[in-house]
Order: sequence, then C-alpha cells, then structure tokens
Amino acid sequence: MNEYDTHTIQSELVAGGHQLVESPADANLVILNTCAIRGKPVEKVNSLLGELRKERRSGRDLTIALMGCLAQLEEGQELARRFGVDILIGPGAITDIVPAIRSLDEGAETFSSLDFQPGLDTHLTPAPSSLSGFLTIMRGCNHHCTYCIVPSTRGPEVSRPVEIIMREVEAMRDAGVQEIYLLGQNVNSYGLGDPGLPSFAELLRLVASSGIPRVKFTTSHPMNFSSDIVDAIAETQNICNYIHLPVQSGSNRVLRRMAREYRRDRYLAIVDEIRAKIDDVVISTDIIVGFPGESDDDFEATLSLYDEAQFDHAFTFIYSARPGTPSHRHFEDMPREIKTERLKRLIERQKAWAQTSNQRFLDREVRVLFKDMARDGDYVVGHSDQNHTVLVPKEQVLRLGLYRVRVDHVTPHTLYGHVAGSRPEAIPLMMAS
Ligand code: 5AD
Ligand code: SF4
Repeated sequence: MNEYDTHTIQSELVAGGHQLVESPADANLVILNTCAIRGKPVEKVNSLLGELRKERRSGRDLTIALMGCLAQLEEGQELARRFGVDILIGPGAITDIVPAIRSLDEGAETFSSLDFQPGLDTHLTPAPSSLSGFLTIMRGCNHHCTYCIVPSTRGPEVSRPVEIIMREVEAMRDAGVQEIYLLGQNVNSYGLGDPGLPSFAELLRLVASSGIPRVKFTTSHPMNFSSDIVDAIAETQNICNYIHLPVQSGSNRVLRRMAREYRRDRYLAIVDEIRAKIDDVVISTDIIVGFPGESDDDFEATLSLYDEAQFDHAFTFIYSARPGTPSHRHFEDMPREIKTERLKRLIERQKAWAQTSNQRFLDREVRVLFKDMARDGDYVVGHSDQNHTVLVPKEQVLRLGLYRVRVDHVTPHTLYGHVAGSRPEAIPLMMAS
C-alpha cells in the first residue's frame, strides 16, 4: 500500500513539473512516506528526521515532508513539531503534495492536510513503465482489530468505482504491463454494502478478462473470503494461485481478544476449501506473537494451526503496542524475552514448512516474471505465479518478461532454476469480449 502511495506521490510530483533525483543528498525536498503499524518503523522515522534536521542546521536548504500513516497520528504530528517538518500530509490526501509545495513557495511557513479526500478514489494513476503495476481497488478498513492502528490512519473502507479501476487496468495492459497487483487493506470487502458495485469475486474475473497475463491481489481477510472468490481463482487461468490470508493467531482466546471475527475452525475450513479447489496453490499468512495475555498454550495453538494449515509462507511479527489502539489502552504488554523466544520458534516452524512446500516445485516448471534486472550475485531475481522468489543465472535472461523456469534446487526462501527454452513464453492475451 505504501509502495503504491509512493508511486502516486512520484507521479504527482513529475506531473507538477518537479524532478526526482537518485539520492536524497541531491534533493531540495525530502518526503518520508511513513508506516505506523509497528513501533520499529516509527523509530526509524525519528532518527531520519533527526539527521535531516542536523543537515538543515548546518546550512542545507531543505524542505521536509512527512506523509503516510504516521502523519495522521498525534505521535507523528508531535515528531513533525519537534523536528520542524514543513509539510504534513495524511494517507487520505496524498495528491495535496504539489499544492503544498506551491503554498510554501508562495510564502506559507508550513502546510498540513489530514482529510480523507473523496477525490482520491477517482484519481487516475498513470500507467507505470514497468512490467508490473499496483492498482488500489479499495482503501481503509472497517475491522477493529484491537492491536491495529490502520483504522485510525486510513479511515473507513471506500471502494473505488469499477469503471475507473477498469480504465486503469486497460491503460496498464496497453502499456505492456504483465502483472497487476490489486491492493487494499481488505480486498475481499470490495463493493460490500454498495449494490452498484461488483463483488470482489466479480471484480477479479473482470480484471482477468482484460487479458493481463497475471493478476495478483493482497490483502484478504478471512471474514468474507467466500467460496465465489475461491471459485474465481480456481476457474480463471490468469488469476494467480497465491493467497495471502492473515490469521494472526491459532488460539480462539487470543483471536477473541484481538477482536478478529472468525475462529480457528472457520479459518482452517477456508484453507481446506482453497487447497481442495485450487491446484498448486500457495497460501501465506501474517502471525503476531506475544499479544497481551498470550499463554504458552495459546502460542502452542498457533504452532498447531500452522501445522494444520501447512502455510507455504508466513510474515511473523512481534506484538507492538501502538498508542491509540484498544490493546495498548486495556492490556499489559508481556516481557520482550518471551516474545522473541516465541518468534524464534515460529520462524523455525515457518522455515521447515516453506522448505517442504518449495520442494513440491522441484524438477517442475514455474512461470516467472522478470520485471527488472534485479540481481542477487550471479542470478537475476524474478517471481513465480505463486509469488516465490526465483533465481536463474543472469546470462539466461537477456530481456525482461515472462519465462518458463525449471526448478533445480530449493531453499525455504528461494527457488533456483534455469530457463526452459531460450525465449520468453508467448503471452496468451484473452481479450475482453
Ligand atoms: N503489532 C504487531 N504486528 C501488527 N500488525 C498489525 N498491527 C500490529 C501490531 N500492533 C501486523 C498484522 C497485520 C500486518 C500487516 O501487520 O499481522 O496483518
Ligand atoms: Fe488492521 Fe485488522 Fe483492519 Fe487488518 S483487518 S488493517 S489488522 S484492523
């Protein structure tokens, strides 16, 4: 989401006549597009702002902008005051960046915009020149997970009009984009409560019918992850067999305290349905360890859920008490050592299952998109339909695009392979009727 917002900010700046530079050292304006979901990124912003202030004090002519989720919070506004930030813009007002610069040029001391502007939903993001593009389909979140700051920073759910989404999809397709990533805090809430909009499953089929070779989406929520979504993925060749479905905990007691609206059995039933209907599917999840009050038994329940779901991958987090959230207000944090010990055990479990999962692809072909010449030593880095990181020797990929790669060797993080055939595979275009 933040990466997408960064693209939008960049295209606004370029359209407004500003120039992007390679290094912050060459800039007159430095924008920090921030994340506030956990305490760590906030600490990083703190130290970056400190460095920028130091440079300014030593005579550098520099405008500093704080954007993104942190800007929306009192915590961020306090930092902005402390470090002399000139421009403060929340995630609902990112297109204000050019007017903000203008206003400073015209003599204003500071600029601040923290509204959720309806105009953002119709704002057309120019097609990127890359082979892979992000496309926001909805913003905000109507859930109230007790640990999470997002509902305060990004506001309630708003689905973007389908005509605008499709116009962007077509613009991207015509620009040669091979992969579209549909983005939203809860993509499967798309269109809920608005009879004028398609459901998420319908939207998926619609986007896929544009002929984009690869359609991915993130993040899904277990609530409303209905059978019609699973069917749309199973029945549509160019919707990727990759589902990111955050579970957060395997303990019903913890799920209740987190105010997650499903329980362990329901979650596992969704996983069963996905695995039964979608061939070669890869499922990843988010898990938080050390939520206040998580007992040894609760944590064991998370490990056992992991084994039952056999996740292909997981993003694992230590609970971070965020000021302004209900869990910060009402529950006591637990000792750091317990949390790190649990995280260590969970990561071991994650690695073991990732190795098992990746072995399924050994000696088989996967379809890989090389969207840039990103290198890892002597290898070029691409991503499979199921979102694996795939490395092939650099001399085998001379131009960018989709390739068939035969997998020779796997680790928990990576598939290593070689290009099967010397040319990118022909890309089947299924045009909309
Ligand atoms: N502490 C730790 N992890 C968090 N997440 C959200 N809020 C917190 C928090 N306060 C995690 C959740 C979510 C992911 C994007 O970040 O797992 O799914
Ligand atoms: Fe945060 Fe929960 Fe909304 Fe996800 S669903 S953004 S964790 S409140």
